[in-house]
Amino acid sequence: MGRLMALALLGASLAFIGERILSLRGKMNAVSREVTSVELQNCQLIEGLENGSEDIDILPSGLAFISTGLKYPGMPSFAPDEPGQIFLMDLNEQNPKPHALKFSDSFDKEIFNPHGISTFIDKDDTVYLYVVNHPHMKSTVEIFKFDDKQRSLIHWKTITHELLKSVNDIVAIGLEEFYATRDHYFTSFPMTFIEIILELRWTYVLFYSPREIKVAATGFKSANGITVSQNRKYVYVADVSDAAIHIMEIQDNWNLTQLKRIQLGTLPDNLNVDPATGDILAGCHPNAMKILFYNPEDPPGSEVLRIQNVLSDKPTVNTVYANNGSVLQGSSVASVYHEKMLIGSVFHKALYCVP
Ligand SMILES: *[C@@H]1O[C@H](CO)[C@@H](O)[C@H](O)[C@H]1NC(C)=O
Ligand SMILES: *[C@@H]1O[C@H](CO)[C@@H](O)[C@H](O)[C@H]1NC(C)=O
Ligand SMILES: *[C@@H]1O[C@H](CO)[C@@H](O)[C@H](O)[C@H]1NC(C)=O
Repeated sequence: MGRLMALALLGASLAFIGERILSLRGKMNAVSREVTSVELQNCQLIEGLENGSEDIDILPSGLAFISTGLKYPGMPSFAPDEPGQIFLMDLNEQNPKPHALKFSDSFDKEIFNPHGISTFIDKDDTVYLYVVNHPHMKSTVEIFKFDDKQRSLIHWKTITHELLKSVNDIVAIGLEEFYATRDHYFTSFPMTFIEIILELRWTYVLFYSPREIKVAATGFKSANGITVSQNRKYVYVADVSDAAIHIMEIQDNWNLTQLKRIQLGTLPDNLNVDPATGDILAGCHPNAMKILFYNPEDPPGSEVLRIQNVLSDKPTVNTVYANNGSVLQGSSVASVYHEKMLIGSVFHKALYCVP
């Protein structure tokens, strides 16, 4: 009897896992579609950015910060042995070129592995750069002061905390205050696999300040890109494997409550706000499976969405750029300054488009 029960349980478990795999495959097919090209005028690949430009943040002055050289489990890297870097591009120039920023001596740049970034300008106009770093594949948050004259980053603080695990992206909301996303819950195989198969919603958004660190919102399959609205009342969170963007309201105690969820037909990575309109720009993966199983002969495509009237009942979602990978593979971010757009990618090149 015991053995029969065990067999029945095993059968049921196998059937369940099979059903999950089929269900996931169906969903994955929905986001591993052929990409119909949507062209932007006057785009060119940026010379000097060829090994990823995962996240991009542009200051109101037109200075763009670009994080490059991400190494992350499951993601391809064309420069696996080189440390990551932060590049700066001044979009006011006629032909802007990226320049690698120097670091202050105290910072260990040999193990720098930058992921999501966010800028913050304090009361006296000092510019800070917050960077999610993965030294030895762990997660820390590095805060730098930007020295415009020396074109360098002065390391100010490293933040580590038990809740800061598998961190993906960050948005600074004050001096030493930020929200950060966790993109997976388990850190070791096969638990990560089980997490995906069961479609667990165990990832979250963290709030950090020197006084308090806490989970501010829960229930994401894989919380990824995060940004804040211009009036600083709302936070936008991309749930990449759920193909959705969540519009969250900031509460008095810094917790986030969901106002709405915008379903997409593509997997959203990093988010930025267009300062001219308040629209969300999302760097997306239309066929993410091709990133996980990378084949240069059949590369992953790129897609950039613009989401207008974000807070209205019916936000509109438009594709502003799409490419099958022949130009740009695995787009992860788009950011604009006076109608000029930068589009970055997880491990590939970057595009600069002017109107
Ligand atoms: C990209 O990485 C390759 C391999 O390490 C290196 O040869 C190349 O110079 C890098 N390109 C840029 C633009 O950094
Ligand atoms: C919101 O914050 C309170 C205390 O600051 C905390 O106990 C609670 O769990 C938080 N809610 C969520 C959804 O994280
Ligand atoms: C991608 O599109 C280009 C034209 O834009 C086409 O020449 C090429 O064959 C396509 N590649 C794939 C892999 O579909």
